[in-house]
Amino acid sequence: MNKENISCSSEDINHEQDLKSHWNSAYTKTEVHKLGWYEDNLEPSLRLIKKCNLNPDASILNVGAGATTLVDELLKQGYTNVIANDLSQVALNKLKTRLGDKGDAVQWIVDDLTKPTALVSLNKIDLWHDRAVLHFFNDTNEQNTYFNLVKTLVKDNGFVIIATFNLEGATKCSGLPVHRYNQHMLQDKLGDNFELLQAFNYNYTMPSGDTRAYVYTLFRKIK
Ligand SMILES: C[S@@+](CC[C@H](N)C(=O)[O-])C[C@H]1O[C@@H](n2cnc3c(N)ncnc32)[C@H](O)[C@@H]1O
Repeated sequence: MNKENISCSSEDINHEQDLKSHWNSAYTKTEVHKLGWYEDNLEPSLRLIKKCNLNPDASILNVGAGATTLVDELLKQGYTNVIANDLSQVALNKLKTRLGDKGDAVQWIVDDLTKPTALVSLNKIDLWHDRAVLHFFNDTNEQNTYFNLVKTLVKDNGFVIIATFNLEGATKCSGLPVHRYNQHMLQDKLGDNFELLQAFNYNYTMPSGDTRAYVYTLFRKIK
């Protein structure tokens, strides 16, 4: 093995561990409802999920779920096949603890969306939901891995909801640099097999009172 390969792979491992520690520490240090991305108004996601008109047993994968209350809400609405993923075990533990017994109905997957090992063996899903995760992937290879996973996992006629900082949005989130999008950029990444059904900009108000500009998008996989 040449030196370049050795140094490259050890940097990768450090980068991944750093990010895992970053997110574990964010969820350890701060109460969930005080996190900068905490939502008590899930309306934009719920509006798009409603538009998908899913059966109660549809499989819904919430990627980078963190400790979002969207999982609680989906269970409350009667969805029986909810999957919660995150890089941070601490985040998912907080969510699991909050849900109590109801959490037994959720499939929990700690995995890195940019180097997936467990997610790749999931059965195909009806809905991919991402709020505030994709924009952390600044590297083109990471982005390609993410979008390849979407393309592989979503069933034909299945749906993709991506909510990410828009082009007017902040350049950092949780102290990390972000890559911002509009709906056309997301369409380019997903390719022609995905049809854009709806897109809107949305200003999210953080617990601190500051706002963050998002674009919400709903796509359907057409073949
Ligand atoms: C800003 S938070 C958003 C959390 C949640 N989606 C929400 O709306 O409350 C970003 C989340 O992405 C997770 N995350 C970051 N990088 C990830 C990766 N490579 N794979 C999976 N999850 C990741 C973090 O641990 C964190 O929970």
